[in-house]
Amino acid sequence: MRKFTCEQKNTPLLQWFAGCAPSGVREFIRMSNVIVLGAQWGDEGKGKVVDLLAERFDIVARYQGGHNAGHTVFIGERKFVLKLIPSGILRPGVLAVIGNGVVIDLAALIEEMNTLEASGIDVERYLRISNRAHVIFPFHRLIEKMSEARENRIPIGTTSRGIGPCYEDKTGRRGIRIADLFDPESFHALYDTLAEDKEKLAAAFHLEEPIDYAEIRRKHAEYAERIRPLVCDTAALLADSMFRAKRILFEGAQGTMLDVDHGTYPFVTSSSAAAGGASIGTGVPPTRIQGVIGVSKAYITRVGSGPFPTESKDGGGDLLRREGNEFGAVTGRPRRCGWFDVPLLRYTAMVNGFDTLVITKLDVLDQLEKIPVCVRYRLHGSDVTEMPATYRALEAIEPQYEELPGWRTCTRGIARYDDLPDRARAYLNFLEERTGVEVGGISTGPERNETIIRAGSKLERLI
Ligand code: GDP
Ligand code: IMO
Ligand code: MG
Repeated sequence: MRKFTCEQKNTPLLQWFAGCAPSGVREFIRMSNVIVLGAQWGDEGKGKVVDLLAERFDIVARYQGGHNAGHTVFIGERKFVLKLIPSGILRPGVLAVIGNGVVIDLAALIEEMNTLEASGIDVERYLRISNRAHVIFPFHRLIEKMSEARENRIPIGTTSRGIGPCYEDKTGRRGIRIADLFDPESFHALYDTLAEDKEKLAAAFHLEEPIDYAEIRRKHAEYAERIRPLVCDTAALLADSMFRAKRILFEGAQGTMLDVDHGTYPFVTSSSAAAGGASIGTGVPPTRIQGVIGVSKAYITRVGSGPFPTESKDGGGDLLRREGNEFGAVTGRPRRCGWFDVPLLRYTAMVNGFDTLVITKLDVLDQLEKIPVCVRYRLHGSDVTEMPATYRALEAIEPQYEELPGWRTCTRGIARYDDLPDRARAYLNFLEERTGVEVGGISTGPERNETIIRAGSKLERLI
């Protein structure tokens, strides 16, 4: 066997393995790759949390979804809404990776790149795109429209971005991947067959909307040239980066209750938003991911149709919508609002293995005299011990509430745990105790500095 001296082991990882790690490199043992994902139905404030934590990581990687996501980040007066590009792009020096599990509408991607570049962000330098990610074409939107409008089919209330039909083509093994765009002969053949399928489908369902299939093909050849320098095997890039002791933050889109397997099916998105998706959607082995951070609002919202046990259709919901500015970042639709749901959080903690929670938008509750929290589900007169699998059972759930006293003081911008009003701390302790997951972080406003990271928490250790 070849022998190396310590000096020849030129990466910190090799040096560490060889037992000759210099001081500082030993830190690597403690360092970890971490997932940040939504614990509810999306819009929990993942963008803000990722932007905040990205400073401590080298790479931020998206693993699923597409431009159905809308992650809002405020930096001072400036507002960014990221759809496809990981929020890490806003931190100078952090590499933003779009993993193989993401579906890409190239027109939307290029528009987002242009907007960010116009704001002075060096996208060309810091963005990498997986050659295995699938491409969304305009006809995917058309198919989605048809599916949503179909008689006797339950309308999901999607974002109409063609996300579902693109994932259908992926699992149907007829999809087109980014790498295919760079082989014109193969691309033409694949595209023409796929387009023909969709044309026939559109005709069968009497869809009048005209689509210029040849023009779409031509445009995609153009788009491909624009992104060519950014495209690579991102799984290999991430493996190589880990070898060099770089840290990866995985950015989830949507939320666990919208996960295609674990969410409120069929009222879900078409990808794996839960923690398991991070490995599949980037090619990073599960054994190399050391932590999962769940992001949850201090209450809960949902956009689109589907069961929502704690939805408040009265003045409470209106107050949350008004105070929390709960309107979709992508579609502008008013978000449905309701109360914190402990059984739901326990369920998402179970499927994701949350190490810690970041509770966002605590400040939105500031005015409330009493805050209801759902602590138990009842169904047909009995306590529910596991999350029902059917949407009909979920719709029939009778949530059981406990009311906690509100603090009726402004918490906006508080950045130290001890500065929170006693009752706000009691509320957070209640959530921690009932969900069984540490509340390691609290967000008290949209800005970076409007955040508390609790001293001695698992969150502090993970980041
Ligand atoms: P994401 O999809 O999970 O990234 O969340 P969105 O960006 O769609 O929605 C969260 C919204 O809440 C954004 O407008 C954020 O700027 C805002 N936000 C995040 N954290 C806080 C907070 O602690 N307080 C308040 N008032 N707003 C917040
Ligand atoms: P972020 O990442 C909230 C919802 C849609 C619809 C369902 C399926 O910002 O949290 P799709 O277009 O994905 O097929 O729609 O999922 N949805 C979201 N809701 N936040 C999101 O993303 C969402 N992405 C999709 O409203 O109910
Ligand atoms: Mg959002």
